[in-house]
Amino acid sequence: MRTRSLAISLAIQALGLAATLALAGCRSLPPSKPEALWTIEEARGAQVFQQKCARCHHPTTTRPLNGPGLQALTKVKSMPSGAPPTDERLTRVILRGRLNMPAIQLTDDQLSDLLAYLHTL
Ligand code: HEC
Repeated sequence: MRTRSLAISLAIQALGLAATLALAGCRSLPPSKPEALWTIEEARGAQVFQQKCARCHHPTTTRPLNGPGLQALTKVKSMPSGAPPTDERLTRVILRGRLNMPAIQLTDDQLSDLLAYLHTL
């Protein structure tokens, strides 16, 4: 008797744990690449981000600032606007602006470094 009810209660706990993990898994985004592992290009891109984007965007959380937080930007299916986070789309948003986001002036080198960095988020 004892053993059986213990087994049942363990099974119920295991189910609860599995459900919790599954729920957490749906909500949590993949972590950003650690700074120690950045390539030179990604590190230069991080500087561009600091100068041109950081006042409006948190890079490694989804918390909004002036614009949306950009954690896992290139790993999600769609950006806040609903568009997929392709390099083409990102380039267009950055260089032309969108709604409340101003167009940002970048050289070709800055842009390619920045895109490399955005892929680490
Ligand atoms: C002055 C503030 C400001 C600056 C500077 C800025 N952004 Fe934004 N950004 C915004 C706002 C506001 C939005 C939301 C626009 C909207 O409503 O679609 C946005 C949206 C975005 C989006 C989401 C686009 C989508 O399709 O959902 C991306 C990606 C983005 N910004 C990247 C950048 C990058 C990279 C930089 C630096 C080169 C940058 N932003 C600089 C304010 C800013």
